[in-house]
Parts: sequence; structure tokens; C-alpha cells
Amino acid sequence: MRQATEADFPFVDEMLGLAANNPAMGIGYPGGSFEDMQKELSEIDKTISNSILIIENNNRAIGIIGIYDAPWGLYLIGPIFAPQHHSSKNIAEVIPTFLNSGNFADKTVIVDAKEGNAAMVDVLETLGFEHTYSGASMRLNIGQCAPKSATTGVSKISLEHKAQLERVCEIFDAYLPPWRSGGMNYMEELLEGGAFAATVSEGGSIVGGIVWERRGDFNELNYLCIDKEYQSKGYGRRLLDYVIEDIRSTTTPDVEHFLYLDVAQDNVAARDFYTHCGFETEYLRMVYTIKTSV
Ligand SMILES: CC(C)(COP(=O)(O)OP(=O)(O)OC[C@H]1O[C@@H](n2cnc3c(N)ncnc32)[C@H](O)[C@@H]1OP(=O)(O)O)[C@@H](O)C(=O)NCCC(=O)NCCS
Repeated sequence: MRQATEADFPFVDEMLGLAANNPAMGIGYPGGSFEDMQKELSEIDKTISNSILIIENNNRAIGIIGIYDAPWGLYLIGPIFAPQHHSSKNIAEVIPTFLNSGNFADKTVIVDAKEGNAAMVDVLETLGFEHTYSGASMRLNIGQCAPKSATTGVSKISLEHKAQLERVCEIFDAYLPPWRSGGMNYMEELLEGGAFAATVSEGGSIVGGIVWERRGDFNELNYLCIDKEYQSKGYGRRLLDYVIEDIRSTTTPDVEHFLYLDVAQDNVAARDFYTHCGFETEYLRMVYTIKTSV
């Protein structure tokens, strides 16, 4: 294994394309295109060259593996092998070698595989990784949907609206596992990093909230929750429509724009709600984690 150089970028691009288009090699986050990955990495002050390693066989590149150091853990990027080298054996060899090669002690390492990447999923349990989450990655084509509801009662809020943010966190905390909701600290971190938040109110009281991010052309819905007593009254749709309008009002209509989200696979009600609102499931993802020893 060796560090990627600029000369390897076309190969890295090819591997990411394979992972995006072929479930048998698919990784989830931060998969997708070369540009997406460059953007994601630049957010944590990394580049492809200092976070991707090239796996070689007889001095020929056969695959890639790397890291994305997210605040809540270390994501393994890949491994993604060229089709003729994508096997449980190669994956089983490269992951421990990679983890032992860096200073990853006492970290939570996260591997995000697409359902269908059987070789990867097989290996992870053998290596001691635990299956911690299954999610559906969904997306909405902004150009092809017509917002339905009036967005009355919706207000955008920012970091200075502490009380409102705390109320939104309280609503989120009732539904989401702590590692996902992250509480007020994580909410502040998100907004400091450029995310947006909005609330919906009834009679002056906040009954739901939404958080979303826009990075270049990449739009992502982080959270959407409505207080239990107020669900099924149109508030979820109102917040979603507000975000769709926000994106639509600042994008060019001749370019396709998508709003992406991730929802727990077993949250059937939310998946049905998103499908009803026009989202399509792009792929299912399986998340495995391991805590490396000190
Ligand atoms: C999922 C959630 C955000 C939906 O918000 P809501 O306010 O309850 O939904 P709305 O009343 O706005 O529904 C909007 C539309 O979706 C439809 N819908 C709502 N739930 C649905 C479901 N489970 N299946 C199919 N359609 C559904 C409604 O019938 C309505 O249709 P219409 O616009 O054609 O009349 C809300 O129920 C919630 O907060 N759930 C718990 C938290 C959660 O799981 N969040 C998502 C993961 S982060």
C-alpha cells in the first residue's frame, strides 16, 4: 500500500465509480463521485493524497482504501478493488493491515457498505466489527417535485436562537438514538459548520424542526422530527416544502438538483412518508463499527 498521488486520481475516480454503480463493490458514505469525495475531504482539511492509499499487486494498482475522520468516528473509505480483485480474501487482508498501519488506536472505526457488497459484509463480522445500523439512502429530484403546502408557521432559526434550538433538540432526542441526535452540542456544531435549521409552530409553540445542509450542489436533509402529538397534521410536509423551496429559489432550473437523506431501514413510517413526498431509495446501507484498542 502506498499513499495516492495526483497521478492516481484517474484510478481513484474509476474505483469510486465502481463503488457507486455496482452494489457488489459499493461503499456508502462518503461514496459517490470523485468531486463529492474531494469536497467531503476538504471539509476536514484532507485531500485524496493524504487520505487514500493505493493497494498494489506486483506494482500495479488493484484497489483503494482510505479514511474520513468524522467528528464521531473514523470512516473507512472502501476498500474498493477492481472487479477481478474484489474478494473476501483481499478485503480480509487489507482492513487489518490498514488499521495497523496508522495511529488509529482507541478510535471508533466505521465501515459503511452497500447491501449487496456481500464480500465486505462477510468479512466484517469475522474481523470483530459489529453491525450497528441499517439505513436507506433516499433522494428527491428537486426539479420534478412541486411543493404542496403553504409554509405558514415555519421560521428559519440560527445559532443565536438558543431556546428554539434547545426545543428542537428536545423533539429530536425523543426519536433518535443519542449517537444520531448528538444533542445541543452537535446541533451547534452543525450550524457553525454552515447547516440551516427551521421550526414549525402552532399557537406560538414549536412542534417540529428540520436541519439541512447545502455544500455546493450537494443538499442533505439531516433531521426532520415532529412532536408526537402533532404528527399527521401536515407539519412534516410543511418543513420539507420549506427546504425544497429554499433550494429551488437559489438553484438554476436547467441543472438537476437532488435533496439526499438517510433514514433508518426499520423506520418504516418515515420511509413511507418520504416516498409519499417523492423521495426514491437509492440504496440500502449497512454500517459496522469496531472500537480499536489503545
Ligand atoms: C416522519 C414525520 C417527519 C412526518 O411528519 P408528519 O407531520 O407526521 O407528516 P405530514 O402530516 O406532514 O404528512 C405529509 C404527507 O405524508 C403522508 N404520510 C405521512 N406519514 C405517512 C406514512 N407513514 N405513510 C405514507 N404516507 C404518509 C400524509 O398522508 C401526507 O399526505 P398528503 O400531503 O398527500 O396529505 C413525522 O411523523 C415524525 O417526526 N416522525 C418521527 C421522527 C422521524 O422518524 N423522523 C424522520 C427520520 S429523521
